[in-house]
Amino acid sequence: MSTQPVAAESAVAEAADDGRHRTAVPLLAIEDLGVEFRTRSGTVHALEHISFTVGKGETVGVVGESGSGKSVLFYAVLGILDAAGRVTGGRATFGGLDLTRARPDELEEIRGREAAMIFQNPRVALNPIRKVGLQIEDVLARHTSTVSADLRRRAIEALAAVRIPDPERRYHAYPFELSGGLCQRIMIAIALACSPSLLVADEPTTGLDVTTQAAVMDLISDLARTRNMATVLITHDLGLAAEYCDRIVVMHAGHVVEVAPTAQLFSNPRHPYTAKLIATTPHGSTSLRSLAAIPGNLPDLRRSDLPPCRFSERCERVQPGCSEPGLRLTEVAPRHQVACRVLS
Ligand SMILES: Nc1ncnc2c1ncn2[C@@H]1O[C@H](COP(=O)(O)OP(=O)(O)OP(=O)(O)O)[C@@H](O)[C@H]1O
Ligand SMILES: [Mg+2]
Repeated sequence: MSTQPVAAESAVAEAADDGRHRTAVPLLAIEDLGVEFRTRSGTVHALEHISFTVGKGETVGVVGESGSGKSVLFYAVLGILDAAGRVTGGRATFGGLDLTRARPDELEEIRGREAAMIFQNPRVALNPIRKVGLQIEDVLARHTSTVSADLRRRAIEALAAVRIPDPERRYHAYPFELSGGLCQRIMIAIALACSPSLLVADEPTTGLDVTTQAAVMDLISDLARTRNMATVLITHDLGLAAEYCDRIVVMHAGHVVEVAPTAQLFSNPRHPYTAKLIATTPHGSTSLRSLAAIPGNLPDLRRSDLPPCRFSERCERVQPGCSEPGLRLTEVAPRHQVACRVLS
């Protein structure tokens, strides 16, 4: 077993070596990223030493319990952390630009055009008092050179591309007139209007019934394939990630604990937390049973005495060495990294 920590270069090389990537070039390289929030009750150490890559055209799942930092990670990457949050270190290189040091105008240019995000709650993310067709036009007008005479046609095409029935009529609808599934499709249409090379889909199927969930996921996956668009699927649902993702990043309490190609993660999970997650996912189902089956809770991220392994206080395999500082993701097999002193 190699014990090389995942450095910037090896993270990129790991993506470049990936035989399952549709192309070999990493589009996004997150390296040693940290984020904290200053709050009245203390500093929340929300993310620490986050490192992984997303290749062009690749679909990467980011899974973990509620509060593990999945959303905050991509808010930090896209420069939309709220005012209490700040990046404490590291980089997120997208198309050659470190987004953590990019100017607001550079970030504005990238968001919506090059990298788009579908937020956790589509009804909140959509403007409730603007027709959905006009919301798509707004994005096209801001981020593309579409002339005003063509905006409406392009917006209707965008609605048709996400298979919204009767797009000419739906163009005039307000979000409250549409079902949850249709609102989610509108969010996808807005996100994809400018043909981004990266789509971050944050729990895109939460709150939808099972049939609509499958339709939305199939739509995202078809569009990603036909446009060679990289996709990050943020989800609690390990089964969903297994079905749609090339690789999976497992997060726990603000750390990445394991990264592996999907089949390898399921056949040979190395981190005790990943092994527990898989054990609590019913076989053949796409829904994660209660994560309460994993003993203990996430530690309070405001603690000043957080251990190097934030899973150690829940881990059945904990050893004295687990409290030694310097824990990092380590290559345990080709393209398979784990942050654990006691490899399972
Ligand atoms: N504005 C904020 N102020 C303080 N702490 C915050 C803020 N936003 C997020 N956090 C904290 O950062 C951590 C990560 O939150 P995040 O929303 O990224 O989790 P998540 O994995 O996306 O959870 P979920 O699955 O519920 O969406 C949590 O401990 C959360 O309390
Ligand atoms: Mg979230």
